Formats: sequence, C-alpha cells, structure tokens
Amino acid sequence: MSPKTPQRGASAFTPNWARTLVDPQAFSDEQHRLASVWTFLGFTSDLAKDGDWFRASLATRSVFVQRFDATLKGFENVCAHRFYPLRTGDKGHGPIVCGFHGWRYVNDGCAIGIPMCQEQFGTVSRALGARLTPVEIATCGALIFGRFASEGPRESLSEFLGTGFPILEALSRSGGPSPQAISTPVAANWKLNLQITLDDYHGVAVHPTTIGRNGYMHRADVSYLRFGLHSALLVTKEPQALEKMAEACANGSFRPSHYCIFQILPNLVVSLFHSGGAFFHCCIQQYVPVAHDRSVQRVSIHPVAFPAEHPWPIRWTRPLSDPIRRRLIWRTVRRIMREDHQACERLQLVAHQVHRAPLLSVLEERIGWFEESYARLMAGHDDAVGTSSTVSDEA
Ligand code: FES
Ligand SMILES: [Fe+2]
Repeated sequence: MSPKTPQRGASAFTPNWARTLVDPQAFSDEQHRLASVWTFLGFTSDLAKDGDWFRASLATRSVFVQRFDATLKGFENVCAHRFYPLRTGDKGHGPIVCGFHGWRYVNDGCAIGIPMCQEQFGTVSRALGARLTPVEIATCGALIFGRFASEGPRESLSEFLGTGFPILEALSRSGGPSPQAISTPVAANWKLNLQITLDDYHGVAVHPTTIGRNGYMHRADVSYLRFGLHSALLVTKEPQALEKMAEACANGSFRPSHYCIFQILPNLVVSLFHSGGAFFHCCIQQYVPVAHDRSVQRVSIHPVAFPAEHPWPIRWTRPLSDPIRRRLIWRTVRRIMREDHQACERLQLVAHQVHRAPLLSVLEERIGWFEESYARLMAGHDDAVGTSSTVSDEA
C-alpha cells in the first residue's frame, strides 16, 4: 500500500462507532451478538484433573468450564432453579451442586439430584427436565474457547482461527512451570484496549522509555497480515511469513526469531517476544468486557516450548537466571500495560464527544481491519472477511 493513504481502513468506522463505549444499551446489544462467537475462556492447565473447573466470562455472562474424565464441558453459571450462581470462586474442584437449595447436576447439565423433589415438585428429578444452559467448548493447544448456541451453520474453532490455529496451538504450550497470570481492572471499554494493541504509532508518546525508546517503527520494516477476521504483525518481510510460520508450527520445526503479535477477534491478543539470549516468551492477553466503560485485562506469560540452543554457561546458570528473567519480564510488561491502560482510560473520558471516524495512519491500519471484522460479527457473520485465505500486506 502507499504510505500516502493515511485513512486506509477508516471507512470501516461508522460515525457512531463509539456508541457502545458510552451507551449501556448499545453495549448490551453488542455483547448479546458476541455471545455466539468463539471466545477465549481459560487454560487446559487449570483443568488437569477430573472434576477441576474454572469460572470465566463470555460476553459478560458468567460461565464455567469443567473436566469430566477426558471431556471438557461448559455451562452458564446460573442454576436452573432460581438462578443462583453455581460457581462462586474463580476455580476449584468437585461436583456441580447449587449453594442455594442443593440441586445437583451431572455432566450433560441435567439436574438429577433435587432435594425432596417428589414432595416439592410432584415428580422425580429427571422428569422435571431442568438443565443448565450449555456452552460449546473447543480447544487450541492450551487455550480453551467457548460460545453460546445460535441459529444457522457455524464455523468450527479450527475454521474460525484458520491460519492462526497451528500457531496459537504451538505458542500456547508452556516450556516451563505453570504460566504466571494477573488480572487488572481497566476503566475503559474493551474495544479501546484492543485498539491500542493494534496501534503501532503510539509507542514514542505513551511508552517513551520502553517500546518507543528507539523512535517510531517503520511500516516498511514489518508485515501486517490478515487471516479470516483476525490480524497479525510480524517483524519480518519474508514473503508468505504467516503461512510458513503456521506450517512450521504444525510440523514441529518452528523456531522463534522475531517479534510477532496476533489479534484474535473478539478480544484475544497473543504475542511472541524475545526475552534475551535465545529465550522467547509468549504473552496471552484478553480484554474481558464488563460494562460499556469497564473491562478486565487478563495476562499470562510463559516461556515458549520450542527447543533453543543456549550456550553452556546460560544452561548451567538457568536455575538462578530464570527467576530473575521472569521478574524482569513482568516488571517491563506491567509497566507497558499500565501506560496503555492510562491512555485508554483517558480516551474513555471523552468517548461521548466522538461522532466521526478516526484518522488512521499506516501504522494504525490494523485498527481499521479490526473494525471491519467487528462489523461482520455485529451483522452475524463469524466467517472470514472476503476469503478464508491470508491477506498479505502490501507495504
Ligand atoms: S437456585 Fe439453585 S438450587 Fe435453588
Ligand atoms: Fe502500548
């Protein structure tokens, strides 16, 4: 593309694109539509044993995912009797028993153990037909995704992620101990948070001592790529870089060499970054919508599981250096994220004054792509924009 076309992608924005940032009803309608879109819920490492469960949010609705032997099942976290939340902690272990009147559920979501059922309801538990609302579950590597049911033909998770599936599958596997994770509330709409992850223009002003210390990124040095509804930045100009990465991830030959970041609609961001020497880490971020003006950022970081050739002094000192490296990574990541959150919270304060499309620079092109894909989701399409193949950048 020509760098003289600064508004590329801005046409995806309608004049009232910011309405969901300020209007609770518009936000609620948006979330209703997103409930049937594959959304990251959590990690398989949290469901290692039969009976393990975790709670998550799917388009603002509380849900939980639980392991039953080899199967993962998801349900809305609302009792079929009088709507009490079945899981009141973030994670745990054990059968599904409601804390309000003691109804007990089995792995298909049916209430089968209803106290005094014959006397209270005039029939046996099974005959009452009470059941939980299911959440469809699928996995990609260590990542668990879910969605609520909707009408019409639906894409599988593999189809939804397309070229990104083998990449996320490989990046999500940890080469070390359990990933470290934190959750941080942000007083800004989830889309503002997503947009800043797609914005490669703000580094100098917002992160002057970390990301922006070397000045502006140059569009000619990186590849912007689009696959299905999603997009990526790869710090390489190698032709077909995304397809090659996907193929290498699938056949086990991938070795990290440069920074890349993948934005998976609606709200998942997966990045691969260099952490010194031959070390690379993977950062998994999600901006969980809470209200029109609030979200929660979930972040997890782990060392990637790809083999690496470390010189022997590095190998021998890893028991000492790994914890230090981990602390330094977290300190930098948290600082960058605090700066991003502050910028988003300031944007949120004036969102009610926004009544037109933004002016997008070439380093913000993927924000326009995101808005196009978002418009498709709002229209009820969870399939790819245009074709299912990768759209390469033209810089
Ligand atoms: S609300 Fe769950 S058993 Fe009554
Ligand atoms: Fe940033």
